[in-house]
Amino acid sequence: MNKWKIEENSKYNRAVGEIDYIVIDDILNDTECRDMHRILLNNPMWRKKNPISKHLYNSRPKCVMGSLLLERVEALIRQKTNEELILIDHWALLYSKNTDGNMHADFGQFTLTYWLTPEEHNLNKNTGGLLLYDVQRPKNSSANQYLTAGGASEKYVSERTQNHVVVPYRHNRAVLFDSSHFHKTHTPNFDITKPEGMRMNLTFSYASTVHVIEQVELINGEHKSNV
Ligand SMILES: [Fe+2]
Repeated sequence: MNKWKIEENSKYNRAVGEIDYIVIDDILNDTECRDMHRILLNNPMWRKKNPISKHLYNSRPKCVMGSLLLERVEALIRQKTNEELILIDHWALLYSKNTDGNMHADFGQFTLTYWLTPEEHNLNKNTGGLLLYDVQRPKNSSANQYLTAGGASEKYVSERTQNHVVVPYRHNRAVLFDSSHFHKTHTPNFDITKPEGMRMNLTFSYASTVHVIEQVELINGEHKSNV
């Protein structure tokens, strides 16, 4: 068993406004994290998600399924909620450019993002992590709006936010947060001259079946609100 640190009293885990999140360092041991990074780099399925994507995207890379990481992620989520949540998606991103993150909220209920690129490739220790805002996706908005409307989401958040947290990038650090909160990658400054130097994250999305059905109905314009 490696040293798995969840520092409830660390500055990252204090309540900030209404933002619900925790930071976990060393969720795997250093060798396991470096192995996973190398295996993912060698995965042949890296693609541009769409013609305007800035980064490389890898949907549901198989090499990580069934790993110790998932067991630990799910144990953490069980501590956060009694709801029956399932893994609905996972993906990896490789930042081939050091560009600003895109403001968005996620589709699921809990997101866990995990950072794999070794520390020596990160040229600014204060950035490259996660910016997490106190603003949540509007109750009846659909994923077509909150997931992809970067400029519109940026404006929506900037008009409402009173607080946000900055979680700096660290190799082998994971952040678990409420997916309804708007967030974006804090502009990275990594050595992008080679793939192993580019910022890589592996992200898991969890939700209940009821939540997924509601979100799909919203996308299809079928959802009837109870309020
Ligand atoms: Fe996200």
